[in-house]
Amino acid sequence: MYTPEAQRRLFDLSKKILKDTTIPNPLEAAALSTALKEVIVYHEHRYYVLDNPIISDYEYDMLYKKLQSLETLYPNLKTLDSPTQRVSDDLTGAFQSVPHQIPMLSLDNSYNAIDLNDFDAQVKKTGLIATDVEIEYCVEPKFDGGTIVLLYENDVLIRAATRGDGKNGEEMTANARMMRSIPLGAAFSKHGIYKAELRGEALIRKDVFEKVNKKREEDGETLFANPRNAATGCLRTKHPADVAERGLEAFVYQLGYAVDKEGNNRLEKFKTHHETIALLGDLGFKIPETETKICKNIAEVSDFCNEWQEKRDRYGYEIDGMVVKVNDLATQNRCGFTSHHPRWAVAFKFKAKQATSKLLNIEYQVGKVGSVTPVAKLEPVQLAGVTVSSVSLHNEDFIRSKDLRIGDTVLVERAGDVIPYIVKAMEELRDGTEKAVEFPKFCPVNTQEKVKLVRTGTEAAWRCPNCTCGMQDMQRMIHHVSKDAMDMEGLSESTVRRFQQVGWLKNISDFYQLDYAKIAKLDGFGKRSAENIQKAVEKAKQNPIQRVLYSLCIHHLGRKVSKLLAAELGHVVELKDWDLARFTAIKDVGPVVAANVIAWFENEKNIAILKEMEVLGVNMKPTAEDAKPAVATDGVLAGKTILFTGALTQYTRETAEKAAAAAGATIASGVSAKLNILVAGEKAGSKLKKAQTLGTVQILSEQAFIDLLN
Ligand code: IVH
Repeated sequence: MYTPEAQRRLFDLSKKILKDTTIPNPLEAAALSTALKEVIVYHEHRYYVLDNPIISDYEYDMLYKKLQSLETLYPNLKTLDSPTQRVSDDLTGAFQSVPHQIPMLSLDNSYNAIDLNDFDAQVKKTGLIATDVEIEYCVEPKFDGGTIVLLYENDVLIRAATRGDGKNGEEMTANARMMRSIPLGAAFSKHGIYKAELRGEALIRKDVFEKVNKKREEDGETLFANPRNAATGCLRTKHPADVAERGLEAFVYQLGYAVDKEGNNRLEKFKTHHETIALLGDLGFKIPETETKICKNIAEVSDFCNEWQEKRDRYGYEIDGMVVKVNDLATQNRCGFTSHHPRWAVAFKFKAKQATSKLLNIEYQVGKVGSVTPVAKLEPVQLAGVTVSSVSLHNEDFIRSKDLRIGDTVLVERAGDVIPYIVKAMEELRDGTEKAVEFPKFCPVNTQEKVKLVRTGTEAAWRCPNCTCGMQDMQRMIHHVSKDAMDMEGLSESTVRRFQQVGWLKNISDFYQLDYAKIAKLDGFGKRSAENIQKAVEKAKQNPIQRVLYSLCIHHLGRKVSKLLAAELGHVVELKDWDLARFTAIKDVGPVVAANVIAWFENEKNIAILKEMEVLGVNMKPTAEDAKPAVATDGVLAGKTILFTGALTQYTRETAEKAAAAAGATIASGVSAKLNILVAGEKAGSKLKKAQTLGTVQILSEQAFIDLLN
């Protein structure tokens, strides 16, 4: 429908409009509204018809809002074909179109407390409520799946449809009948209701989605991009059996229409939205119950929305926001509707997790063990509340597998706390000027000496085997003082760089012979900062040797193995006499890390540095913290393997694990045949199911676990 050239033009135009914050004069307004209409129609097609959007929902919403406010300012621009004059459309023409009992509108959006306050003020105005009266809201998750509209007559499901254009939907009764969470019959008549129309959302649980995609991969089928695509695809499948196989479920969130045999409105019998939802729950529908809160005012709504923004990633289903609804139905009626949305409800949209940006360049960083990491430099873009302009590309294979090219428009994602990553390049937006990536053959820092990079068998990274430029030394020193290593607060990365530049730091032993008087005189420093650095260094000298070992930057030697080794030593330098067997006799110490430690301690220069550090006062002998934890062989959990899942209410996960370990248990990392006990907290999910199917695992509640310990 759109040529590649047209797509590029519309994409660039969208970005340009989004960036422009100037207020147009009447002449510019006309041109801008034409442009906005064109790009919005394009993005709606990509989103609703192709299920393949190329801008984030947030960006789409911003375009839409821009057009809306332009049309408010200049009403003559509001043409009949404007996207604001109808609700968006997912009709493809492949299914039979059926009318809804009442139109299914969209929702207006809000993004922060200010927007919510504006909404609250609007509700009071249109709902004829005094400004000092608090309004009660019912707040539910905004499920990110496919809308379904269910029609019941005489207690039987007679029709199911998608949302379509809001007035008519696509009939998909056969598919809905395959969803176990949709009752085929429901006793509406007990409540005097003869005909009822319900709205809800069809969804696939995130863990089920993973399995569905895994199977598709095995079967050589194309993968779904996300649970929403899987759900909407499944709603419109021509093979109802797919629906059951893919585990499609449905939540209902609105009783939109309810009449008795004579056609009298039965909704009037209910006082609140929440009551209607509770009724649907009683009738056997799946409703958002524990996820919903009745808030007594808009401030509470705002807090609840923020709380969910934080925990959305831990929830079993994809949600992209919360829906805030006036709870009192009489007030809802007074507020009424615009042509686009009800005035009594608003969506609170979470910060976008995905966005597109341009891959401007790739820079190469040399790490502490010489690994060369490519880093994508992007046009800055907002993602889930932070500006992202640099994203790690991990290694050469990552770049090749995604066929990334300089100049590409790329899709970037930041899920939860996870570091942002590049999902894909938008091939359809290429214009031929994109350049293939040439991974460096030589050290990217020391460009004069041409040090050849090497890549050994199993490793994904190219490494600089023989650093002569000081880069690796610097990275090592930065690691040495970092929080998990020697933890020298006050010695930031930039301070380390600065001290290396002025020649005070060549290797890690130099940290323990800094001249504090000189530091106090250095530009940008002073007596106070010199003192702070001295304090941090003095404190670090007393560190347990597990920190010392970890601070040495031995390839693959992480905190865990550092701790295991520390527990076996009388002095750090003893490691120089250890052979491979001595290392690998320790559980969890493998031959690769062992070989690296051996090689490090064989190097005389390294031993000299350690000895110098010891002379300068750095502790090299195990402290109490390094001692092996006494295994409680007589503890109640001695010899048992235990795992915690779900949310614990009395303990944090960490303290629960500590308590279990103190009672002699080993903490498992997953459910397997070796697992003896699973402690299942609230909302335990797939791990609990798996343990139940295994049948060999003892399953305890949090309370039962505490009772056992006591
Ligand atoms: S209420 C009159 N509640 O959001 C509108 N909608 O634009 C009534 N959605 O695609 C909608 N979760 O399917 C409502 N708890 C919820 C929702 C919800 C998801 C979807 C709905 C539609 C869009 C509304």
